Amino acid sequence: MTDFPAITITNFETASRDEIEAVQRARLQWTLQHAYANSPMYKQKFDAAGVHPSDLKQSSDISLFPYTTKQDLRDNYPFNTFALPMEQIVRIHASSGTTGKPTVVGYSQGDIDRWAELVARSIQAAGGTAKDKVHVAYGYGLFTGGLGAHYGAEKMGCTVIPFGGGQTERQVQLIQDFKPDIIMVTPSYCLNIADEFERQGLDPRQSSLRVAIFGAEPWTNAMRAEIETRMGLDAVDIYGLSEILGPGVAQEFVSTKDGPTLWEDCFYPEIVDTETLQPVADGTEGELVFTTLVKEALPIIRYRTRDLTRLLPGSACHMRRMEKITGRSDDMMIIRGVNVFPTQIEELILQTVNLSPHYQLEVYQDGNMAGLTVNVEIADNTASQIARAQAAQALQQSIKSMIGISAEIKVKAEGEVARSQGKAQRVVDVR
Ligand code: DLL
Repeated sequence: MTDFPAITITNFETASRDEIEAVQRARLQWTLQHAYANSPMYKQKFDAAGVHPSDLKQSSDISLFPYTTKQDLRDNYPFNTFALPMEQIVRIHASSGTTGKPTVVGYSQGDIDRWAELVARSIQAAGGTAKDKVHVAYGYGLFTGGLGAHYGAEKMGCTVIPFGGGQTERQVQLIQDFKPDIIMVTPSYCLNIADEFERQGLDPRQSSLRVAIFGAEPWTNAMRAEIETRMGLDAVDIYGLSEILGPGVAQEFVSTKDGPTLWEDCFYPEIVDTETLQPVADGTEGELVFTTLVKEALPIIRYRTRDLTRLLPGSACHMRRMEKITGRSDDMMIIRGVNVFPTQIEELILQTVNLSPHYQLEVYQDGNMAGLTVNVEIADNTASQIARAQAAQALQQSIKSMIGISAEIKVKAEGEVARSQGKAQRVVDVR
């Protein structure tokens, strides 16, 4: 296999745009050559599209190359996507595969080392230091969250508490006893942890936690405000996906809290129009597409993430940011002809007095259209029937005026909405 191009980013915080772009160009060329020479899937895809790695003269020429989709990975299940022989693969992860076959990804030792470096960099951007204790409540196992966070925190020199998901009562006990500074967890599960603190008569604001690194699912700035106030910490966004790496593809800086910074020296991002699939300019919303720049075992060319966002100029450093993900195109509901994302409903729930942030949406058949039920909990179980009815009405009205649809609101008692231990399932389709 060809060696990596010698150019390296010495400091992600100070690297100039010129430096970043030179690294991207060299690494794109390396990735295309490596994929074409060593991955039968890419040899076949490039040949079918009539393109060759040497066609890339400048980074934007990547648009000449075909997209990769989840289906491509499924068609090559489990290992035919790998560009290294199995003896050089040191780790496998896989998506949960709720629909069809799981997506399998592989890592070389070099991939694992670079992944850990990127997560360490992410923890640093989140305000972490080697002195911190990090409580990892992302699930361990085939999901990339737990082990990805774990190796990164160790690389950073932190003390890692590898709790994983679930056992909420014990999570709270160990947070009280071990006094971690940072928690890495999905925002939806963190809400359960906050609830459990209160159930035990403890004030979550008094805990040792200073920073929460939230990802693996869409969450809004309204949710950030809610959890920051309730737990007395800074919440920042970590983004990633297993096909490209796992957590640590992009990370929000605690100093700016203005959307995750893409680690552009290791991933080449594009935004493409969801209809035409043509690349669009920075600042325009569309589907996020990635080409890996330093992946050996599983180089990926132009992967369609299905995540909707836009690219923004760098703020804390010269690497570009992405806006907080609005949602996945897969999660978009079409309710009575209107496109609706769960995050839009989340914002409105969090603005409604007396409602808790636990919610789940149900899409049902209503004549020949789809209808929406919002299942949400009352914040305080002692609230009167009148207060519940008022909350339901207030939410219904704000959904009508802000999104333009009529939704049925069911205000449930505390604990009646399904809780997540990892990624929340926000939409249940009962059609
Ligand atoms: O969720 C990796 C990860 C673990 C990221 C822990 C952050 C923290 P997958 O299971 O492959 O990998 O799911 C990837 O989750 O395409 C997005 O739709 C969603 N996602 C991940 N991070 C965020 C985020 C991990 N910060 C899919 N905001 C992605 C919104 C996110 N959505």
